[in-house]
Amino acid sequence: MTEFLWGASTSPHQIEGNNLNSDWWEREQRFPEMFERSGDALDSYHRYREDIGLLADAGLNAYRFGIEWARIEPEEGQFSKAELAHYRRMIDATLERGMTPVVTLHHFTNPRWFADDGGWRDPRAIDRFCRYVEAAATILADVEWVVTVNEPNVYALMSLMDNTMSEEGRAAMADLSVDDLLRAQAAAIPDTELGDILADAHRAAKVILKSATSARVGWTVAGQAFEPTPGNEDEFARVKDAWEDRYLRVSKGDDFVGVQSYTSQKIDSRGVIPHAPHPDNTLTGWAYRPDALGIALRNAWNVTEGTPILITENGIATNDDARRIAYTSEALEHMFAAQVDGLDVRGYLHWSALDNFEWGHWAPTFGLIAVDRTTFERTPKPSLAWLGDIARSGRA
Ligand code: BGC
Repeated sequence: MTEFLWGASTSPHQIEGNNLNSDWWEREQRFPEMFERSGDALDSYHRYREDIGLLADAGLNAYRFGIEWARIEPEEGQFSKAELAHYRRMIDATLERGMTPVVTLHHFTNPRWFADDGGWRDPRAIDRFCRYVEAAATILADVEWVVTVNEPNVYALMSLMDNTMSEEGRAAMADLSVDDLLRAQAAAIPDTELGDILADAHRAAKVILKSATSARVGWTVAGQAFEPTPGNEDEFARVKDAWEDRYLRVSKGDDFVGVQSYTSQKIDSRGVIPHAPHPDNTLTGWAYRPDALGIALRNAWNVTEGTPILITENGIATNDDARRIAYTSEALEHMFAAQVDGLDVRGYLHWSALDNFEWGHWAPTFGLIAVDRTTFERTPKPSLAWLGDIARSGRA
């Protein structure tokens, strides 16, 4: 039995800086009124050793980070040996500090050429992704945990966002009241067609990785911890299936499924109810629901029929670090309770290691480590030492 992973997670675009060849970079330049820019981000591209060192010094034994397709293949078919070597150095830096790397291959961003030339809906998409995975596999031979695609369900929702960035889409939105707009956003269901394409991409990537590496291979699913309001069980079942279960079923028989949980959502006859503004809401406007982790874990376990679970993200956007500790402490109690009930949970990776770029916004801070974005100075928060102590003792 390998040791329980206690760690923290990041993704490339959110921490590295100057991810110039990615579609997200382009989006930030085109719609500055909608998105703050990632810019230099946290310059973790150059400062990864320091970041890894802080996590290791605190006592964590795992670091989840991603490798960036847009850097590794900046133009179709042009693979950068230097960028692959860069990510190999990150893997080695993690191993050298006695930590287990958990490597994500796709975390919301695509190379610009891929996005501009049809993106995931183009018939060539899966072959293109597979060529990237083959290149990535050359540096992953001894990596024990690989995530193919991060949160395909959220990605399949985000792609709907592209419509809202077109002239027509925005004109249509202009006529909606704020309430209707929030409702429309909350009720949006991930695009199942795109979800199916990502599932095929995951399966194809898994075949490549299983033959080229000794990694455990899985994908991660955003658990929504849906709850029905009285009388709306049918709508609850429909939304839960479209949002979450159809993605979890893909993980049946996989080495692991990554569970990612932040909050819970209530369902009425019209679908997901938007979170009402409330003083307890987090900086992302989500309800404060540390118990969501337990709900998400149990749902993943039931739907996958017992696929081992790695908690690949759980955390809270807050400026109050004591609240981060309180939230996480309660979430961990729900994880321990699930383990007592027989769920096979292999690790807990907190989101996030650093206060990073929250997809167009800098204000929602999820990090165990604060970063001054002018000097790039890192300042660990008390929550990092607190989580490190749990990692050392194995108990909250
Ligand atoms: C994503 C992260 C994101 C986090 C908080 C997850 O959906 O994987 O990239 O920052 O949630 O919103």
